[in-house]
Amino acid sequence: MALINEHFIRIPATYLFSEIARRVAGYQESNPEAGIIRMGIGDVTLPLPDASVDAMIKAAEEQRNQATFRGYGPEQGYAFLREAIKTNDYATRNIDIETDEIFVSDGAKSDTGNIGDIFSTRNKVAVTDPVYPVYVDTNAMGGRAGQPEASGSWSNIVYLPCKEENNFVPELPKERVDLIYLCYPNNPTGTTLTREQLAVWVDYARENKAVILFDAAYEAFITEENVPHSIYEIPGAKEVAIEFRSFSKTAGFTGTRCAYTIVPKQLMAYSEDGEQVMLNKLWNRRHTTKFNGTSYVVQRAAEATYSEAGKKQVTELIAYYKENARIIREGLEKAGLTVFGGINAPYVWAKTPAGMSSWEYFDYLLKEKNIVTTPGAGFGASGEGYIRFSAFGSRENTLEAMRRLE
Ligand code: MLT
Repeated sequence: MALINEHFIRIPATYLFSEIARRVAGYQESNPEAGIIRMGIGDVTLPLPDASVDAMIKAAEEQRNQATFRGYGPEQGYAFLREAIKTNDYATRNIDIETDEIFVSDGAKSDTGNIGDIFSTRNKVAVTDPVYPVYVDTNAMGGRAGQPEASGSWSNIVYLPCKEENNFVPELPKERVDLIYLCYPNNPTGTTLTREQLAVWVDYARENKAVILFDAAYEAFITEENVPHSIYEIPGAKEVAIEFRSFSKTAGFTGTRCAYTIVPKQLMAYSEDGEQVMLNKLWNRRHTTKFNGTSYVVQRAAEATYSEAGKKQVTELIAYYKENARIIREGLEKAGLTVFGGINAPYVWAKTPAGMSSWEYFDYLLKEKNIVTTPGAGFGASGEGYIRFSAFGSRENTLEAMRRLE
């Protein structure tokens, strides 16, 4: 008799964005004439940078010829891409990352979801609340979350509320935690931590031998000076943090799939008998066993984002979405909502009008305004009473959505 992983019974039946897609599809089916504007899932709408498309065409041609054809590549990623990442994303910020600390993958969602493989189920996990649901759901699947509670929270996860009252800055946990997920610029609130605020967490992790899982998928949207682009800008962070980066939101790769994870060689965790173990070795073992590398063609596309033309095109993409975020912030404010985020991030986090729950406001916007958003409560109990707007739509749709809300 085949037995299942019992943890799957306890998690919500559908992933947040699948549930929203289901509701929207249902509404669209019964209202085929509705001109729905999608500001829900953070999926990009502008095409890939020309530099990346040209690189893919060239790489595809190489795959046609015997002399240049490539089969399996290195699971950790080709040297050309890892060198480009090291030079452009880290050396330029005076951060010394070695190429064997870089693991190229097919997405930050996969990596943040899979990283639990190398940690004991006995670790106490802390997440900000609201939070990108992948961190919580994958810990629940892995048996680290305990039991689900009526609020939708899990008994064994430490939630760090991020609300207007604390300026969306998580406070240190009252009880000791071992694994801390931080996403900055933040999904879903679009808010950030300053260098000093992030340093508090690095110090905490150093004092408590904890590990920070730092999701920096939205770093390209940072506008303000004192906001760190990488956790490794904070002294000592290489001893306590894994960083996740992605080409998805930066260069439009949501459908093309390419990301990378940094696991510094100084970063240690402990075996049951207290022995120090290099996490880099464990992740390498996991990655080479369960993953066969991002496709060559896609890695060439990612490499091209660092070419002179590629950098310029990526900057233009980001500027376009940032302008959308500004339009959304202003539009929502004009409509009388209180808004947060959207300055260093492609997400605007708004308070729902008085008395409305997140899901009620989501339904109202879908049915009355034909606008798809993401209800704050879907990201955790502290997200109740908020709604998230994504700035990844077209300019035309963004303007039209704000017009509908006037
Ligand atoms: C979001 O909308 O939160 C993101 O698109 C989800 C993701 O990147 O997987």
